[in-house]
Amino acid sequence: MPNELASEPSGHALADLGAAKEAQTQFRHPVKSDGQRVWRLVRDCAPLDENSMYCNLLLCSHFAQTCIAAERNEELVGWISAYRPPEDKETIFVWQVAVSSAARGEGLGKKLLSELLACEGAFGAKYLKTTITKDNAASWRLFSSLAKSRLAPMRDEPWFDKNEDFGGQHDTEHLVTIGPL
Ligand SMILES: CC(C)(COP(=O)(O)OP(=O)(O)OC[C@H]1O[C@@H](n2cnc3c(N)ncnc32)[C@H](O)[C@@H]1OP(=O)(O)O)[C@@H](O)C(=O)NCCC(=O)NCCS
Repeated sequence: MPNELASEPSGHALADLGAAKEAQTQFRHPVKSDGQRVWRLVRDCAPLDENSMYCNLLLCSHFAQTCIAAERNEELVGWISAYRPPEDKETIFVWQVAVSSAARGEGLGKKLLSELLACEGAFGAKYLKTTITKDNAASWRLFSSLAKSRLAPMRDEPWFDKNEDFGGQHDTEHLVTIGPL
């Protein structure tokens, strides 16, 4: 089945979200028909870059095994997109994490990361990498909280540069590496 997650979540995944919320929330890999809803959620989660809908359809198809959707009452409340970089087999690279404004601060973002690390698509990954702009406090806290709970080192360095790479259109993205996990 393309969208099944392991039936037994990891201990880390269980610890992130309260029991009541856990019971209300379903975590699964996306399918093609999720593409539009994912596009809307990401659009509504500033400061994330708005993607083309085509890009979200690709994520929900070719990259479904390393992406996770969280639903409550059939509503998409959380999303994480990730992939295994072809030249870096020991890494899982997280592109975007989005939690709907009504569901923030409950541990859902961290739970999505835990579900991702526990799923088969992340098997063998020693490092989690992502990029964060300096001003995204929620994102820094989310990833440092993950590193802390895994007792894993976390480091960062400038990667996609504001002027050199983005032509001044976007703040510098810092490459964050967590691991070895
Ligand atoms: C970043 C985001 C995904 C966090 O989701 P969330 O479900 O609210 O996060 P959690 O409840 O799992 O919190 C994880 C940690 O981050 C902290 N945190 C969450 N929001 C925060 C904020 N606005 N400011 C500071 N810290 C914050 C929590 O206190 C928690 O820390 P702790 O584990 O040390 O107690 C969510 O705010 C969001 O979708 N933001 C818009 C999109 C974005 O910036 N995505 C991240 C870039 S990829």
